[in-house]
Amino acid sequence: MNSTENTGRTDAPIPSLRIAVLGTGKMGGILVQAFLRRGLILPERIIATVAHEARAQALSKQFGISVITDNLKAAQQADVILLGVKPQQLDDVVRGIAPALQPGKLLISFAASVKTKAIEQAAGGKFSVIRAMPNTPAMVGAGATAICRGSYVSDEQLALAQQIFSTVGRTVVVDEKHMDAVTGLSGSGPAFLYIIIEALAEAGVNVGLPRDIATLLAAQTTFGSAKMVLETGSHPALLKDEVTTPAGCTVEGILELEEGGLRVTLIKAVKRATERARELASG
Ligand SMILES: NC(=O)c1ccc[n+]([C@@H]2O[C@H](COP(=O)([O-])OP(=O)(O)OC[C@H]3O[C@@H](n4cnc5c(N)ncnc54)[C@H](OP(=O)(O)O)[C@@H]3O)[C@@H](O)[C@H]2O)c1
Repeated sequence: MNSTENTGRTDAPIPSLRIAVLGTGKMGGILVQAFLRRGLILPERIIATVAHEARAQALSKQFGISVITDNLKAAQQADVILLGVKPQQLDDVVRGIAPALQPGKLLISFAASVKTKAIEQAAGGKFSVIRAMPNTPAMVGAGATAICRGSYVSDEQLALAQQIFSTVGRTVVVDEKHMDAVTGLSGSGPAFLYIIIEALAEAGVNVGLPRDIATLLAAQTTFGSAKMVLETGSHPALLKDEVTTPAGCTVEGILELEEGGLRVTLIKAVKRATERARELASG
């Protein structure tokens, strides 16, 4: 495993800090709930914002924290400011909170495609900006988040960002130049794997299994195989060889996969998704 990977599912709270989450939609909501559930921070030390007052009230009730529609007010109260609005709204939101920024405050954006340099410019100074790219399995604590640092980020701030995203799964630190590739692999990856699971389940039905059992077996087999790769640290090819008996059943199936071009299709899918992320990032 990469030496910068953090596999620790840390529960260590950060009692001295205050967090604001600006833009608490699907992903922001997943994060806020994980912070609270994992005891990362006390409810009174976290504040969230959304665009609509009615939603603010509903979320406040649901999460048991303060949820408002005033980004500047929330940013003034926080040491760590998470930015979770849509990419096209980010510039306006950062400009709007600029009066609340000061050295030492940490901005962490999880908006896709927006570069740290653009956020630093919108903030109007040498502020600490980190970019994070989480994925949707964060909802069940099995997310994969890549993190990269802007120009003015200390090692402690980077470690803090890793600690924050460790509440929803595994984190890796990458150079910013790799963020589009991350979007293509772990950002889009869940959709690719759902299709594989769906196809495996369909295959199970085709060979006579009830659909619910076929789906469970397909999903659990995918989960177990991923767990084997992560926990043994063995190369996937080696693990595959261990399942493949000479002249057995698995090797017959593998021949079909190779003929069908599964391997090259997946490589092309990630490449294409990465290219698209690059296109979107350059506007
Ligand atoms: N969903 C994912 O899988 C995923 C993965 C990685 C990264 N991201 C990134 O996460 C960001 C949010 O995505 P999402 O899927 O969570 O979108 P979303 O559900 O539409 O959430 C956006 C939130 O921003 C709020 N908002 C809009 N304008 C605002 C403003 N000016 N000030 C404060 N809040 C404002 C909205 O408030 P209302 O609810 O009141 O409308 C909404 O709650 C995006 O930049 C996306 O690239 C998402």
